[in-house]
Amino acid sequence: MCGIVGYTGSMEAAPILLDGLSKLEYRGYDSAGMAVFDHNKLHSAKAKGRLKVLYDRTDGGKTLKGQSGIGHTRWATHGIPSEVNSHPHFNSSGTIAVVHNGIIENYIQIKNKLIDKGYQFISETDTEVISHLLDYYYDGNPLSTIAKVVNRIEGSYALGILFSQHPGDIYAIRKDSPLIIGVSETGNFIASDVPAILKYTRNVYYTDNKEIVHLNGNQAKFYNLDLKEIQKDLSVVEWDIFAAEKYGYEHFMLKEMYEQPKAFKDTILPRIKSNEIHLEELSLSDEVIKKLRKLYFVACGSASHICHTAKYVMEGMARIPVEVDLASEFRYRNPILEPDSMLVVISQSGETADTLAALRLAKENGIKILSIVNVVGSSIARESDSVLYTWAGPEIAVATTKAYTAQLAAVYLLSMHFGKIRDTLSTTDLNDLLTELQTIPDKIQSILDRKEQMQHFANRYIGAKDIFFIGRGIDYAASMEGSLKLKEISYIHSEAYAAGELKHGTISLIEEGTLVAATLTQEALYKKMLGNIEEVRARGAFVLALTNKGNEEIEKNADYIFYIPKTYEYFTSCLVNIPMQLFGYYVAVGKGCDVDKPRNLAKSVTVE
Ligand code: F6R
Repeated sequence: MCGIVGYTGSMEAAPILLDGLSKLEYRGYDSAGMAVFDHNKLHSAKAKGRLKVLYDRTDGGKTLKGQSGIGHTRWATHGIPSEVNSHPHFNSSGTIAVVHNGIIENYIQIKNKLIDKGYQFISETDTEVISHLLDYYYDGNPLSTIAKVVNRIEGSYALGILFSQHPGDIYAIRKDSPLIIGVSETGNFIASDVPAILKYTRNVYYTDNKEIVHLNGNQAKFYNLDLKEIQKDLSVVEWDIFAAEKYGYEHFMLKEMYEQPKAFKDTILPRIKSNEIHLEELSLSDEVIKKLRKLYFVACGSASHICHTAKYVMEGMARIPVEVDLASEFRYRNPILEPDSMLVVISQSGETADTLAALRLAKENGIKILSIVNVVGSSIARESDSVLYTWAGPEIAVATTKAYTAQLAAVYLLSMHFGKIRDTLSTTDLNDLLTELQTIPDKIQSILDRKEQMQHFANRYIGAKDIFFIGRGIDYAASMEGSLKLKEISYIHSEAYAAGELKHGTISLIEEGTLVAATLTQEALYKKMLGNIEEVRARGAFVLALTNKGNEEIEKNADYIFYIPKTYEYFTSCLVNIPMQLFGYYVAVGKGCDVDKPRNLAKSVTVE
C-alpha cells in the first residue's frame, strides 16, 4: 500500500527514484510523484495514473535535476487518485517535502488545529497534516522537529522527508509500515521494500519503529526519539538481482509461476540433511512441541488459504488441534487463547496490518508466535518468537503464486517436524513423506510444461460471468485459492464451496453452461465428489475436474479433465494449485486485464 523511495548521493536522483518506484509499483499504482533538491529549492513532479505518466512527464527523470530526492507511488486511502492528492506533500512555503506510506488516524483533529492556526490545506489526504506539522514544529533541527511530530501523530507510517535548509539530507522514520535503508559507495537509500534498491546495493539496515534515520551521500545515522544516536547492524540481502526483473516474461505473475519449483526447493532443501528435517532455526525445544495443545493459524487472503490447508496437514501429521482464523476477524473477536498453544501467522510480505495486529494481540496474552514469512527483516518476522522463512525471493505480481507454494512447503516441513517430535508419524512414514516431498518441484515443473492445455481451456471462459470451485477437505482449501486467483485478476465473479455444502443453497446458482472446477485428489472423498459433480451437471454445469493421474474413470463424469501427477494426498494442494493459477492467469490475459496490477488492489496491505 503505497511505496516510498529516496536517494541521496553522487548520481542524479530522479532516474534512480523512478527506477525504484517501478519496483514498488505493486504497492500502489494510481498516481506517483517525486521531490528533488536542487539550487537551494525543492522541485517536484506528480502525475495521476501509472508511473509511466510521471516517467514521460519528466523525460525519465531528466527534467528534474538534483542529487537527493524522495518518490512515492500511491494506493489511495484518503482522497481520490489525483495530482493534488499524490505525494510528495509540502508545507505552504515549499521548504519541506514528505512522502508517506500508512494512515494517520488522528489527522482530522490535527488538521482542524492547524487550520485554526492559519495553515491552508490543498489536498484531501491524511499525509498533508505531516508536512504542515513539520513546518509548525520546525526549529532548525530536523531531528527534534521529527520527534515532536511523531509524538503528535497516531496510526501507521513510513515517512521520507526533505528539508530545503538541509541540502543533500534525507530524513525518515517509520511506525508499523515497512522501511529499509540501503547504503552504497555512490549514495544511500530509503525504500519500502528491497527490490527498489537491489540494483544499487545489497547492504541494508532494517529500522525499528520510531527510529529517526538521517542520511546523506556518505553516511546513515539512526536516533531514538530522545535524539540519542543508535548503533545498528548492517545486513546483506541474499535476493538475486534478476528476481525483481521480468526477464523476458510477459508478466511477473507468469515468471513467478515458473519460479515455483525453485521456490519450493529453496524452502525445503536447506532444511533436509541426511533425510532428516532440521528446523533448529525455530529455537523450539522438543519439550515445547510435545506439550502443544493447540495451534492458531492466522493470516489474510491467500495466506489464510494456507492456514486452511495447514489444518488438515498439521492435524493429520502431528495430531495438534488447529484453529484457523482470518487475521481481521481474530483481532477483534476476543479469542480464547489457551495455555500451551502457539500462534502461527503466515505472510509473504511480513507487513500485513491485520496479521501484525493478530500477532501482537496473541503476544500480549502470553502466546508464543511462530511466523512463516518471505521477507527477511519484515515487521512480522522481527516481532515473532520463531521464524520459518520461505525462500521464494521477491514476489512482484500482486497475485501471489510462488510465495503461496513456498508457504505450503513450509507448512509441510513444520507439520512433519512436529509429527516426528510428537511421535505421531512413524519413521517409515516420515522417510516416505520426506522422499516424496523432494519430488514435488519436478512435479510442479511437469505441470507448468503443460501450460498450453490450461491456456486453451481458459480461452473458452473469457466471457464467463460466474465460476465455481468445489472440493472437500484439503481440496476445499485449494479451491478457495483457485477461486481467489481467478477473481482478483480477471474480475470474473467466483466462489469456492465445500462440495457437500452446495445443496444447502448455492446450487440454485448453477445454470446451463456454468463452469464448476471440481478438485478431487483425496481417495476417501473421491466418490462423494463424484456425487457432487453429478448434482451440478444435472443442473447444466460444465465440469472441469482436477484430479490425480490414475483416476481416468472420471472421464465419464466430467467434461474436461486436468490430471496432476500422483503424490501423497497431503501434497496434492501444491500441485492442483498450478493449473488453477494458470487458468486464472490465462482468463485474465485473454480478457486484456492488467494481470500484475489488478484494479483496486495493492500488494502488502499495510493498512487495516
Ligand atoms: C492474493 C494475495 C493476497 C495476500 C494477502 C496477505 O493473491 O496475494 O490475498 O495473500 O494480502 O498478504 P501477505 O501474505 O503479504 O500477508
